[in-house]
Amino acid sequence: MTSQEEHKVEEHKVREQSTSNTGDRKRRSGRITQNFFLHIHATRVHVHSMKPTYTFGLGMILGFLFLIMVFTGLILMIYYTPSVERAYHSVKDIVYLVPGGRIIRNMHRWASQGMVIVAFLHMIRVFYTGSYLEKRSLNWVFGVVLLVLVLMSNFSGYLLPWDQLAYWAVTIGSNIAASARELTDLLGITSVFDPGGFMKNMLIGGDTVGQPALSRFFTLHVIFLPLSMIVLFSLHFWRIRKDGGLSRPQRYRSDKGTENKWLAWPVLMWTELAILVGVVAVVLLVAIFADAPLLEQANPAHAENPAKSPWYFLGIQELVSYSALVGGLLVPVLYLAFLFSIPYVDREDEYVGQWFSGKKGLRLVLWSAAGAFTVVLVQLVILVRFGGLRDWIPGVSQWFVMLLNPATLTTLLFLLAAEVVRRLYHSTRMAALVLFTASFVALVMFTVMGIWFRGPNWDFFWSASQWPTV
Ligand code: HEM
Repeated sequence: MTSQEEHKVEEHKVREQSTSNTGDRKRRSGRITQNFFLHIHATRVHVHSMKPTYTFGLGMILGFLFLIMVFTGLILMIYYTPSVERAYHSVKDIVYLVPGGRIIRNMHRWASQGMVIVAFLHMIRVFYTGSYLEKRSLNWVFGVVLLVLVLMSNFSGYLLPWDQLAYWAVTIGSNIAASARELTDLLGITSVFDPGGFMKNMLIGGDTVGQPALSRFFTLHVIFLPLSMIVLFSLHFWRIRKDGGLSRPQRYRSDKGTENKWLAWPVLMWTELAILVGVVAVVLLVAIFADAPLLEQANPAHAENPAKSPWYFLGIQELVSYSALVGGLLVPVLYLAFLFSIPYVDREDEYVGQWFSGKKGLRLVLWSAAGAFTVVLVQLVILVRFGGLRDWIPGVSQWFVMLLNPATLTTLLFLLAAEVVRRLYHSTRMAALVLFTASFVALVMFTVMGIWFRGPNWDFFWSASQWPTV
């Protein structure tokens, strides 16, 4: 324990004793155990879990963002009508006629975007502190499911305003769902076996986005996904308590009973309340100054060019532009499989609770980030400057395009790097650090490419101001 932490524990002990000892401690423990809402916490929290630089409060922030989503979502539901004819106008009514409607809609929108960003940040903190180790593998799995649910929730909400942005983003999303068609088309079996078409149909209930899609997305968005998230949150929080609180480094492992622990009431409660107030204040401020986009009403006859999926799927859309099957199906499935399998492949418990698993790990993380950045950048520069395989060899078989593109090459190189590190260091944790870091850097770079550097016909542009006027 650092001297600062020791000092804090001492201070806390003195405070505990001075506030009339046993009776008071019992009363404070009682508050936690007898109150339904506070019961989510253990009565005592380890001093290490209270370090702001360990969790950054990200899990709590996520929970509070979800509460804001539910609260603002319920209000929006009073006015919103999920029909192709009325949806757009009902959103306009909310923005321009309903008192406070603009702020509520903006809060809902920005809190949802915040959830995507914070969910990734929370996963990153959990990963780099090795908090999936020891007995926390199941909770990591619940977390990955939550991440998927957050993305699905966002995506399903995207269609509801029924404007041009929503319509074409979901059209692109549904085409990504049909990515398997690249393979079945090549094999000439799409007419008899069409898993891509099946996926697309499941998603939007037809060949194009229309009323069935809107009804499905609405039901998913307001019932199935929020309920699934509530169930998963409950499991997630239950596991944190079952696993003995948050992870902590080896040196605290032997702490027994009340050793190095604080009573959760009132310090933790006040901290959480402060985080709640902070989160609401930030979302409110953003909502006051920035409006959620609302373009013209959806027009299926007039395609947006470029038609872009929501920003968190633009990395995938960039990969799909090289190969639908690899970018839209294989890479996302592999990435998810990697995330789910991390705690089952890597079981080196000695690294639990330690940022980057020490200096050796940190060095590897930095090298992997730099390596991944270079690998992706070089490929993107070659692609933009000299074109892809089809530009070099006109008429080249689609099989080659599928095998040789930045999505496959990047994936193979990263897997190779991780395997080399595993053998060199005899450590699965070090290999996981390499793969996690490299794939995250690549995801960010492909996403940045999709957001800022792609314009009409998915061509490269330095900025949107260079887009040709159509
Ligand atoms: C999306 C909604 C999520 C919510 C509301 C949530 C909430 C929380 C909270 C409140 C904590 C305890 C405090 C903290 O670590 O900040 C926590 C811990 C944890 N979360 Fe999440 N989480 C979510 C997503 C995820 C994701 C995406 C992952 C990983 C893929 C994950 C894995 C974990 C693990 C393993 C712990 C235990 C960490 C430890 O023992 O140090 N969670 N989560």
